[in-house]
Amino acid sequence: MKVAVFRKAHFNAAHRLYNKAWTEDKNNEVFGLCNNANWHGHNYELEVKLVGEVDPETGYVIDLKVLKDIIKQEVEERFDHKNLNLDCPEFASLNPTAENICVVIYDLLRAAIGDQYELQVRLYETPRNYVEYPA
Ligand code: NI
Repeated sequence: MKVAVFRKAHFNAAHRLYNKAWTEDKNNEVFGLCNNANWHGHNYELEVKLVGEVDPETGYVIDLKVLKDIIKQEVEERFDHKNLNLDCPEFASLNPTAENICVVIYDLLRAAIGDQYELQVRLYETPRNYVEYPA
């Protein structure tokens, strides 16, 4: 019997979207305000979905305290109150779009969560704009 369990988390971070191979005009044309050289921030909301078998002894798919601690260690401590472009090596040469942040978070969590679980990550950059990986 497989059941999906979810854990929400959030972090605040600053970023700037730009492609250093492009001219300033092209960056402004494509990224607009998100290319602001003096950065801007978002309140990112994260939803982590795990699918797995219910353990007959505990009745759990996973102890949500364990999942909470993994998210805290792998995501919140790494990205909360950071400048993603400057402070986080993950984005040293990767544009910190919601799409790329979501994939980076998935990879970090995937490495920390057992193979018996299916994993999906949803990241809200604003209440109305969000991405999900795997699609
Ligand atoms: Ni932005």
